[in-house]
Amino acid sequence: MPERSCIVTGGAGFIGCSISADLVRRFDRVVAVDMMHPQVHKTQNRPDALAEGVELMRLDITDPASWERVLAAVQPTVVVHLAAETGTGQSLTEATRHTHTNVTGTAVMLDAFARHGIVPERILLCSSRAVYGEGAWRRRDGGEVCYPGYRTRDQLAKGAWDFEGMDATPSSAVQTRTVPTSVYGATKLTQEHVLYSWAAAYGTTPIVLRLQNVYGPGQSLSNPYTGIVSLFCRLARAGKSIPLYEDGQMLRDFVLIDDVAAAIVAALDASAELPRSLDIGTGAASSIGDAGTLIAKLYDAPAPHVCGLYRYGDVRHAACLIEPTLSALDWRPRYTLESGLVRLKSWIDRQLALEEEA
Ligand SMILES: NC(=O)c1ccc[n+]([C@@H]2O[C@H](COP(=O)([O-])OP(=O)(O)OC[C@H]3O[C@@H](n4cnc5c(N)ncnc54)[C@H](O)[C@@H]3O)[C@@H](O)[C@H]2O)c1
Repeated sequence: MPERSCIVTGGAGFIGCSISADLVRRFDRVVAVDMMHPQVHKTQNRPDALAEGVELMRLDITDPASWERVLAAVQPTVVVHLAAETGTGQSLTEATRHTHTNVTGTAVMLDAFARHGIVPERILLCSSRAVYGEGAWRRRDGGEVCYPGYRTRDQLAKGAWDFEGMDATPSSAVQTRTVPTSVYGATKLTQEHVLYSWAAAYGTTPIVLRLQNVYGPGQSLSNPYTGIVSLFCRLARAGKSIPLYEDGQMLRDFVLIDDVAAAIVAALDASAELPRSLDIGTGAASSIGDAGTLIAKLYDAPAPHVCGLYRYGDVRHAACLIEPTLSALDWRPRYTLESGLVRLKSWIDRQLALEEEA
């Protein structure tokens, strides 16, 4: 039997580590290609959570020469493409960096496959809810659906957080148009299009998973640009009141990493043809304020407070319909926000206790 191998770009990150043990069980060889971004990896040590059987190649996916080294070592049967710059707010001030890694990096990888005549059976991309931007809203009078697009600077300055006379609707890859509002979202959408086009031309299967807000054990506790749930936990653990942006009523679908890892593995295992893209979340959204209150209670911290700040590029609400995903994959989310937070808290407590000891 020929060797079955898997390359995971960004494989030493939060999601990469969470799927690493499953991949080692499924493939003869698993290679993580990761430049160990200093914003994500506080130390340059190999992450403890990366399964032992994974070979880590510390290389940059935007560098064609790096791919020569990777492909000389392994010809992938399957690729899981995770490497990315992931800061939504940061992407507005560092658009070049985000575009270079996310878009050019994807293209450099695909060009390297083309140069070497490598056509993986499947290429799975972790895309993001950010591709929908503000998504579809329904008018209260008349009920028709529209795409208000962007919240203007004026609107935000006045604290008019919602679009007047409309209610947000959950997004669905089946029907919701993509109108990203951040550079990050735009790069994730471009990644999707680049992958679809390449895959159609070369006859490989693209799998695109649009992830909602992923949180849980393993997420970087030192990266200030991503991971609002981890950030809230750190503040509450320090006995501080969590500051809530806007009016604290923005909705998010917080999905535990365990459920996301299970969805990625289910998508790789799927034998039937999958829809073009799939939404991965719990299917239930919580307000940022409710999430903050749950976390404050877990840590016995003061109640959260509305601080009135806001961030350009943030969307008002993000939620998704997961029914099409449930029909397509042998998967369903198992954790609510409450049960997921309990799991996260015990991991953070252990992690920070270790750091404090060291
Ligand atoms: N975590 C979430 O909430 C979430 C939500 C939606 C989509 N996603 C997507 O999932 C993927 C993985 O996210 P994550 O949460 O594991 O992020 P992460 O930051 O923990 O991991 C990304 C990894 O990519 C590596 N990397 C960055 N630039 C690289 C480069 N040029 N070359 C090689 N490696 C590079 C980093 O060192 C890091 O280990 C990303 O594509 C992200 O856009 C994540």
